[in-house]
Amino acid sequence: MPDLSSRDPNWWRQAVIYQVYPRSFADADGDGLGDLKGITQRLNHLAALGVDALWLSPFYPSELADGGYDVADYRDVDPRLGTLDDFDAMVEEAHRLGLKVMVDIVPNHTSDQHVWFQEALRAGPGSAARDRYVFRDGRGANGELPPTDWQSVFGGSAWRRLPDGQWYLHLFTPEQPDLNWDNEEVRADFRTTLRFWSDRGVDGFRVDVAHALAKDLSEPLRDLGAPELSAEAALPHFAPGTHPFYDRDEVHEIYRDWRKILDAYIPPRMAVAEAWVPGARRARYARPDELGQAFNFEYLQAGWDAGELKQVISDSLATARAAGASATWVLSNHDVVRHASRLMLPPGTDPDAWLLSDGTAPAVDESAGLRRARAATLLMLALPGSSYVYQGEELGLPEVADLPAEVLQDPIWEQTGHTSKGRDGCRVPLPWTTSGPSYGFGAGAAWLPQPASFASYAVEAQDGVEGSTLELYRRALRLRRKLLEGEELTWVADTPPGVLAFARGDGWRCVANLSDTAIALPPGEVLLGSRPIEDGRIGPDTTVWLA
Ligand code: GLC
Repeated sequence: MPDLSSRDPNWWRQAVIYQVYPRSFADADGDGLGDLKGITQRLNHLAALGVDALWLSPFYPSELADGGYDVADYRDVDPRLGTLDDFDAMVEEAHRLGLKVMVDIVPNHTSDQHVWFQEALRAGPGSAARDRYVFRDGRGANGELPPTDWQSVFGGSAWRRLPDGQWYLHLFTPEQPDLNWDNEEVRADFRTTLRFWSDRGVDGFRVDVAHALAKDLSEPLRDLGAPELSAEAALPHFAPGTHPFYDRDEVHEIYRDWRKILDAYIPPRMAVAEAWVPGARRARYARPDELGQAFNFEYLQAGWDAGELKQVISDSLATARAAGASATWVLSNHDVVRHASRLMLPPGTDPDAWLLSDGTAPAVDESAGLRRARAATLLMLALPGSSYVYQGEELGLPEVADLPAEVLQDPIWEQTGHTSKGRDGCRVPLPWTTSGPSYGFGAGAAWLPQPASFASYAVEAQDGVEGSTLELYRRALRLRRKLLEGEELTWVADTPPGVLAFARGDGWRCVANLSDTAIALPPGEVLLGSRPIEDGRIGPDTTVWLA
């Protein structure tokens, strides 16, 4: 059993961390937007669920050009979400309940409303203020062409031109100018931010776009040479570490520097990298003298296929082990189609294309989706390492696929010229009660409309109900705490096709049937099933834990 006492330096290695998307969790002041007081009031839900920690997506002052990932001040709270006092009260209550708190840190770019960017706009070309960002003259006779062919992750050129003729780099929206990490003032300011939140009792950090901070800014800037490829898709075309702005070797100096700061606390502050970089290269971010963990998106991207998942799990464990890190598993987050819907898409379907099809694509069968999601979750929670769960998945929420265009807020919708609907469908506010203007989210309507079907997924509808998804998560998390031992997994050989089976320490076994036929239940006491076990058989899309 892991030692989750407050001073254990390794509390995170096999923790279950619950992601809160603050604007969509709970709205205490009734303005339609979730807030910090709302989170504090609902922390008992997380304690009862049995997670070890919560991670908050950004709650900082922001014009919300990218859902808060455009930060105008790294050391304050958005007034719409509360105050620093509210933050302190939330941390205190979380700690009282035995929950750790992680916050999101967004070091690749600021908001264009940040004082530094406003100063850079005023200061003009060649100024020290512009050197904190990436400003360049354009190409072409009059500088009318962008400095390079780099594309924004959200579509279109990654450069925007200012009236004074210079261009600035924005790998995401134009409201998110990229910082220049060669600038010592930028580095110093983030050290201050890490200390600021650590001093306030924050236990860890999720590092946004961790792979993009270091850029090759030597003159002349290099083209990617493949403007049709996204920056990520271009990675394999470069020798490791030499892509102009992704996953460069120098980025690790930054995290080695951060680790010294984080290790000065008791217990050391943990950190997890969001790095969209394949396998072994990604594990470098998780080395013990760097961040400690990195999200494993290969697991999230794998299909509902036993062979593929087995490979991904084995590779992920091996690369994490080689780096001295613990593995991580994620099925849903605020950037992807919720797994209760995604795992039902026919193999090869692009979730973006599915979202855009608005009723023209075959609808996902919600009850089949829920069955599969529950099986996927029990499989994930049996794996060695940390699991990151996203708010609402404990209720079995599906993606809200049919949000009408006029309510969409994700910048992806506009920036792709309406060819990608974006991520709002997984950010619809949570249903807490079966009735009320926003199903208990707040006193008024929510900032994104909730479908009527949310009533049946509400916490109130599932609390104490035998067999509900909420009760399944609660039982799984309670059992997991008791069963966890070591970080090893042993595959069971000779399983039927479409079946994954492995043993953990002390006789705990997990059998997941991903096929469409029932299989015989192996001997052993059934501890938990994602569905009831009937006639001694494990049905399709079902996971069981056995003693
Ligand atoms: C990360 C966040 C995403 C955000 C992007 C830019 O990928 O998870 O929500 O849009 O970074 O900050």
